Amino acid sequence: MKLDGNTILVTGGGSGIGQALAWQFADRGNTVIVAGRTEASLAKTVADRPGMHTQVLDVADGASVDAAIDRLRRDFPQINMLIHAGGVMERQELGSGGTLATAEQVVNINLLGTMRICEGVIPLLDGKSDAVICTMSSGLAFVPLPATPAYSASKAGVHSYSVSLRHRLQGRIEVIEIAPPAVQTGLTPGQESRAGYMPLDDYIAETMANFEQVPTPPENLVQRVLPLRHAERDGKVADMLQALGRL
Ligand SMILES: NC(=O)c1ccc[n+]([C@@H]2O[C@H](COP(=O)([O-])OP(=O)(O)OC[C@H]3O[C@@H](n4cnc5c(N)ncnc54)[C@H](OP(=O)(O)O)[C@@H]3O)[C@@H](O)[C@H]2O)c1
Repeated sequence: MKLDGNTILVTGGGSGIGQALAWQFADRGNTVIVAGRTEASLAKTVADRPGMHTQVLDVADGASVDAAIDRLRRDFPQINMLIHAGGVMERQELGSGGTLATAEQVVNINLLGTMRICEGVIPLLDGKSDAVICTMSSGLAFVPLPATPAYSASKAGVHSYSVSLRHRLQGRIEVIEIAPPAVQTGLTPGQESRAGYMPLDDYIAETMANFEQVPTPPENLVQRVLPLRHAERDGKVADMLQALGRL
């Protein structure tokens, strides 16, 4: 993938990992459109930054995705890249009232939302040189956090979907799965300063260094996530599940 001269839609670009990646790419001479549900955080993200634009988008809502795709086709026909960082994480007590509603919301945003935005963007990217889709799974795609069963399942689904996308789009659109470890962002309450989580700046620096590798690895993995990513290969799933089950 090339690191400058792109036009990039970054979902989840109003905060956390998406925002930090959006700023990195904007600083490297790319046109960046940040998208998410909250207009105010998008506006703050692009303030005083020429070359950055905003798009209100709810990936859980097909009409919202369609409207965003129409706007991209009209205003940014040169778009050649998607970084899909938008997502939510919720804890669930299995078997208690309300759990299924949470599961539906999490799967609708994280997994179906990934499919909706990819389906929308693929026709815009197809035929362009240097076309790239980055999906965002998680280390928890590979060993689940039992307190967040729908989240973990949705990210396992994003991993599987990314494998299919990469296969089907081979030679047309490069597909890179970003699988972060636990990073200090506002994804869950208190997470921005939670001890033991990777500082966001460190995570972004290592992630950008991975993007700089030639050829770009199909999975963008920082060192911290490797034990989870390779747990099955290394015969460590049961041990890691025990540890995650205590959280
Ligand atoms: N931080 C971690 O430890 C970690 C680890 C593994 C994977 N990840 C993944 O990394 C991605 C970014 O998370 P983060 O840690 O940066 O947390 P974050 O700061 O909460 O970012 C999530 C972003 O997604 C947007 N979003 C949520 N629902 C959306 C929807 N329906 N449509 C469009 N955008 C939506 C949010 O903005 P609005 O609410 O304004 O829409 C927010 O900007 C997520 O997919 C997350 O699952 C994070």
